[in-house]
Amino acid sequence: MVNNETVLVLDFGGQYCQLIARRVRECSVYCEIKSYKTPIAELEKKHYKAIILTGGPNSVYDEKSPHYDKALFSLGVPILGICYGAQLMAYMLGGKVSSSEVREYGKTPFHVTDAKSLIFADVPESSVCWMSHTDYISAVPEGFQSAAVSDACPVAAMECQERKLYAVQFHPEVQHTEYGQQILKNFLFKVCGCKGDWVMSSFIEQTIAEIRQKVGNKKVLCGLSGGVDSSVAAVLMHKAIGKNLTCIFVDHGMLRKEEGDQVETVFRKQFDMNLIRVNAGEQFLQKLQGVTDPEQKRKIIGEGFIRTFEAESRKLGKVEFLCQGTIYPDVVESGTGNAAVIKSHHNVGGLPKDIGFEGIIEPLRDLFKDEVREVGTQLGIPEDLVWRQPFPGPGLGIRILGEVTAEKVAVLQEADAIFREEVANAGLRKKISQYFAVLTNMRSVGVMGDGRTYDYTVALRGVTTSDFMTADWARIPYDVLEKSSERIINEVHGVNRVVYDITSKPPATIEWE
Ligand code: XMP
Repeated sequence: MVNNETVLVLDFGGQYCQLIARRVRECSVYCEIKSYKTPIAELEKKHYKAIILTGGPNSVYDEKSPHYDKALFSLGVPILGICYGAQLMAYMLGGKVSSSEVREYGKTPFHVTDAKSLIFADVPESSVCWMSHTDYISAVPEGFQSAAVSDACPVAAMECQERKLYAVQFHPEVQHTEYGQQILKNFLFKVCGCKGDWVMSSFIEQTIAEIRQKVGNKKVLCGLSGGVDSSVAAVLMHKAIGKNLTCIFVDHGMLRKEEGDQVETVFRKQFDMNLIRVNAGEQFLQKLQGVTDPEQKRKIIGEGFIRTFEAESRKLGKVEFLCQGTIYPDVVESGTGNAAVIKSHHNVGGLPKDIGFEGIIEPLRDLFKDEVREVGTQLGIPEDLVWRQPFPGPGLGIRILGEVTAEKVAVLQEADAIFREEVANAGLRKKISQYFAVLTNMRSVGVMGDGRTYDYTVALRGVTTSDFMTADWARIPYDVLEKSSERIINEVHGVNRVVYDITSKPPATIEWE
């Protein structure tokens, strides 16, 4: 993406790396993340407006700790070092970093000692910041001066105004730092002179122009799942090239209640897109007959998805490009060099990249999830779809324990729809990260009317999480659970017991299979 005001976050393995980038973008300044392994020549070519060095888990004195070419500080680009990044700046420029016996962690009062410091403009003399460190800067490099202190840090911040080099020991990107956003803003606008003109509408216009230039009159195919990312990517693509885009929506019959029809209505009726819906439910169920092992079920569904998609795309003749809804967290490489958490199974069926296309187009590659949602809203995609919770590719197939049958799918669709409706009625939709029903493979005895029943148990699951890597079970109010349970028992035939899953991840996972 071309932008003449881009800030670089140089990642040294800090856990808040993506958060820093988001905070910068919240200031309407475009920002990208690169690993500290990126050669300096590459950085020079990009003419960054500013560079932010992130935190990291290491000590600068560790042999294995990530360092960088010292020439970085002579590029003439303003730099802000955060935590490890601050220590690295001090260490590399001749200051001193020492190890403390006490670790300073959590909310910590700090005091600005240099009232003229540009990065502390409009920040009170005393406020609270978020600290997380053992090492600290004990002596500033020549030409620098300390600008803030805390109990454990004689240099909670330092700067060299002429060279536009700044460093803070604490984390301005974390919300617990009361004036964190103000400090970042000061750095971007007062130190670096950013304009702050990066807005979603300009992203949309620019991306559409880029797509048109790349695609010309050629054809593009998009796998649509009805999830947020693929939906936004498809609509953006459609705005750019109209009917030269064809979307294939493989309905494997294990979607949530009425979901397939909703997807069709939105994309075909509202957006007038070329949409091919493949109703492959029966074929999928046939392949799943008698299969109870979760991994095997996943494999069968994943494989079936790809084969169906391929078969359908072959019917279309020559199509040059494949459009995918990859987003920034899927591609960004972590500073420590471990491959990113690439959720291959999270893409639409994990389409292999080599099924005969000239190129892949990923229009959302630079965006975070909340930014994708904003683009979706601006493009007029219904709120329901834009705020959809994550839904696994294999769908209800992995929420029905044991063998999947058409009857079980129908039972689970009903129970799940009731639960989601009750969560929505209680106004909790955006407060719970993911919530759904699971059809366990267990039957138990109950009594209904005057008769004995021997029916299935439905488990309800709700979690709160920021990254889906770890999750806590959601404290859904009892009355919402009660209403859901009552309605499921009364309205769904074949279920006589409802339980709520109170396990976090780890040790459990979010899905049951
Ligand atoms: P787990 O169960 O691993 O799930 O804690 C973490 C998140 O990933 C989603 N998930 C999937 N998404 N295809 C997907 O697109 C899959 O096969 C898949 N499996 C799990 C899950 O819903 C949760 O949000």
